[in-house]
Amino acid sequence: MSAAPLTNDQASRAPRKVGKAVQDAIDRGAPNIDLALLPNLTDLSAETLTANVIAINSLCENPRLKFVMEKLVTHIHDFAREVGLTTEEWMAAIQFLTATGQICSDIRQEFILLSDMLGLSALVDTLNHPKPEGATEATVLGPFFTEDAHDIPAGGTIASEGKGEYMFVEGRVTDMQGNGVAGCKIETWETDEDGLYDTQYEGRSQPDCRGRLTTDKDGYYSYRAVKPVAYPIPNDGPVGQFLRKLNRHVFRPAHLHMQFDAAGFEPLTTALYIRGDEYLTSDAVFGVKSSLVVDLKEIWDEDKAKALGFKSAPYYLLERDWKLITIEEAEVEKKKSLAAYYATIQGNN
Ligand SMILES: [Fe+2]
Repeated sequence: MSAAPLTNDQASRAPRKVGKAVQDAIDRGAPNIDLALLPNLTDLSAETLTANVIAINSLCENPRLKFVMEKLVTHIHDFAREVGLTTEEWMAAIQFLTATGQICSDIRQEFILLSDMLGLSALVDTLNHPKPEGATEATVLGPFFTEDAHDIPAGGTIASEGKGEYMFVEGRVTDMQGNGVAGCKIETWETDEDGLYDTQYEGRSQPDCRGRLTTDKDGYYSYRAVKPVAYPIPNDGPVGQFLRKLNRHVFRPAHLHMQFDAAGFEPLTTALYIRGDEYLTSDAVFGVKSSLVVDLKEIWDEDKAKALGFKSAPYYLLERDWKLITIEEAEVEKKKSLAAYYATIQGNN
């Protein structure tokens, strides 16, 4: 069975007589391929299917998509062969993915959760955001980011009263040389003291425990928040049921999400984890990095607490500086870390 790659010249759109249904589909944009030039796809076996699916995909004009699909088909077919995938297991997977999609909404992203629990989010993040020594490391976005956080002035609060123990967060955003990054947008979000994000409450009317800040001319930022706590990832849906079958716990250590975006710099999605949390070494979504673990200081000074805008002491102080890399520095790192991939691409062209 021939499975040589096709070229677009070979598959020139030769006029041919077709039925109405076929013609209608072609008129609506379905590719009109000269069938005589395609490999014969009948009687395919476990041995010949993979090469022929790759061959039929090889007319793709987007080289990146063609490459990704070649690898996807190769690995997913090898996976099915290696595990001897049964029809029942294939159907169970289809039903699982269907349920995963059906539970998604504007504020619930079960597919990101699935990617997270598979370690895929952490892997993609690591592949895409390699950092030079000293730069702040990235970590997973998680499923709880929303676009609607309010703008918070310096020193303002992201959390309404009663959402948890007070925490004051401050620091500076700099480049790799230590120069302050002015006008950097910071998105930050966290759970309340019950371990819930605002989006997990029925009837959410506005954002809470999330906010958007901007660094000052020297790169400084500060805001009031609450001390984050460990929490279960949403486990009332398909991903939660799956984790139960795997006998895996569903907990993330306490953390504060932060995302940075400044002109000329690579956007950074990261989080800070609180030292001492019992789940630090077994995060359900593989997001913890040692460089992102921080200590909180408990401050009992009543005057300081009030000056910062808290009703009373105590409050926790989280001091943290961040080093962003420029877009150029990011490109250099990415090229280094994806050298093997680039070599493969060049070999294919
Ligand atoms: Fe989170």
